[in-house]
Amino acid sequence: MAYSVPKLADYSPAALDQAVRELLSAVRQEAEAARTENDWKVFRDRWMARKNGLLTQVNDLWLKAAPGPAKRNVGARVNQIRTEVEQAVDSAQQRVSGSASAGRLELERIDITLPGIRRPLGAEHPVLRTMNEIVSVFRAMGYSVAEGPEIETDYLNFEALNFPPNHPARDTQDTIFVAGQEKKPQRDRLLLRTHTSPVQIRAMMATPPPIRVVVPGKVHRADTADATHSPIFHQVEGLAVDTNITFCDLKGTLDHAMKSLFGSDVKTRFFPSFFPFTEPSADVSITCFKCGGKGCRLCKMSGWIELLGCGMVDPNVFNFVQGNGYDARKVSGFAFGMGVERITMLKYGIDDIQLFYQGDVRFLEQFA
Ligand code: PHE
Repeated sequence: MAYSVPKLADYSPAALDQAVRELLSAVRQEAEAARTENDWKVFRDRWMARKNGLLTQVNDLWLKAAPGPAKRNVGARVNQIRTEVEQAVDSAQQRVSGSASAGRLELERIDITLPGIRRPLGAEHPVLRTMNEIVSVFRAMGYSVAEGPEIETDYLNFEALNFPPNHPARDTQDTIFVAGQEKKPQRDRLLLRTHTSPVQIRAMMATPPPIRVVVPGKVHRADTADATHSPIFHQVEGLAVDTNITFCDLKGTLDHAMKSLFGSDVKTRFFPSFFPFTEPSADVSITCFKCGGKGCRLCKMSGWIELLGCGMVDPNVFNFVQGNGYDARKVSGFAFGMGVERITMLKYGIDDIQLFYQGDVRFLEQFA
């Protein structure tokens, strides 16, 4: 039965003691019984509500009703009761909210011995890694870096590089043309650049001689994809123009670059070749870094691996730069271009170029 405040008939100290004892034991019991925040609120209001809370009842039934001589004594006890009830309410609140936050802490507990979430580390793609490596070899020799657009004009991709319109040399670079350009003059028609060489012209138009620049970038050819061909691939182009640049400079520069990329014991070989924009032109081979030149599967038993094209800038190309100090009677230069995928495949022993473009993590993570 829940405690209720009785009326007092007897105001003797013994009767008062008894009534106070009963009341305080009821308040303590109820305080202990409160488990939740809500229990506590009900408990608090039952005792402390201004309107008809049990304390108010004590005040009305015990103090106000007390006969004159007993008032003083009753008043003191009522004060004592008030203090004790307030304390009981306060400590019940602390206990209740203490266990609530303990519950919350338990829910939010973190097991710091669990293994945690591993985020896979990203890594440079092998093609970009090789491209950056090539670029930094030339940066160390004082070359700056330039880039150009992948959508290029017929003029810069071919004509300014000494490929006359309809010249058969264009057939060596199967070109992807942008459709619907027939109304434009041929030189303004757009295509996907077939090599990074148009940036030679762009760089010379932007910067007077002397110039030393490397151009990393993506190029496009209408080739059918197979183990060694991709319609999209990457090149690094190089160009150096100054007074008195000779074929010796070209040989020394590329020999140094190949030793930096493949190891200091590789040798280079320059073999006559043809490009419309260099004269003379050469294909550069290095001694096979796998067999050291004895002949193996990698070098197809020849001892040599063909790596890049190069040559002395054809004086006619300077004429297409339209000024800016590139006077073929005063300056000379060399240029070279290399395929980044091919070099990467040789360096890492990769036998299928398509692996670069499939995004298979099992392949890529070997380069992380
Ligand atoms: N642009 C040529 C190619 O893609 C390579 C090259 C660059 C040759 C510079 C000579 C000089 O085949």
